[in-house]
Amino acid sequence: MRMILVGPPGAGKGTQAKRITERLGIPQISTGDMFRAAVKDGTEMGLKAKEYMDKGALIPDEVVIGVVKERLSKPDCAKGFILDGFPRTLAQASALDNLLKEIGTAIDHVVVIDVPDDDLVRRLSGRRTCRNCGFMYHIEFNPPKKPGICDRCGGELYQRDDDKEETIRNRLKTYHAQTEPIVEFYSSKGLVRKIDGTGSMEEVEKAIEKEIGA
Ligand code: AP5
Ligand code: MG
Ligand code: ZN
Repeated sequence: MRMILVGPPGAGKGTQAKRITERLGIPQISTGDMFRAAVKDGTEMGLKAKEYMDKGALIPDEVVIGVVKERLSKPDCAKGFILDGFPRTLAQASALDNLLKEIGTAIDHVVVIDVPDDDLVRRLSGRRTCRNCGFMYHIEFNPPKKPGICDRCGGELYQRDDDKEETIRNRLKTYHAQTEPIVEFYSSKGLVRKIDGTGSMEEVEKAIEKEIGA
């Protein structure tokens, strides 16, 4: 199964990708997580990426495409993958198309998770992420048993730098202007499965399962 999760910031791409990964045993490829790891490691790419991320803007296409190309060539992607947050521009979508053509494969499903902007601000301002295992919580919708501590591994929970209200608004603008056009690109190929992302995490998971038949 080769699938793409598309949706505005806070739609639940990461939450659902982690569930599908556990169910189907294929890797989650989150470009956001990869760039946050580079920022944490203090690499040159990380330092540059942080400037864009802190503004809620997109990292230049050529940088992102290079990173994804390398990641998709790893052996764990041979049986499939879930792309979370990539592609995010038409240029990235067509680069991915070419890349997959070269290796004789293609995308099976493009799952578009739809959530209204007002709900997204609430979701993102309450999000907390485990520094150790990356598991995500929400202080209201999915709180950890002990505040600030991960239920799964005891790691420390933190708030992402780009989850400030002003940056969230910019990320939403960027999504509508630069990423939404890829939905039309994939619609014309008959790959788009639209999901109502406003239900509970379990309801959204069931809806995705139904659409992708797995
Ligand atoms: P990225 O990390 O991809 O962030 P994003 O797209 O803004 O999306 P998020 O990770 O914030 O949200 P999500 O949809 O994963 O939601 P989540 O499951 O966490 O990108 C960050 C930055 O990196 C970009 O701004 C850009 O600068 C750069 N970048 C990354 N990829 C790039 C690319 N391809 N090209 C260029 N630049 C790139 O859920 C959110 C919260 O809601 C959580 O607290 C969760 O618990 C809760 N929640 C989830 N589902 C539900 C539900 N059903 N009901 C209630 N609460 C829910
Ligand atoms: Mg995410
Ligand atoms: Zn953890």
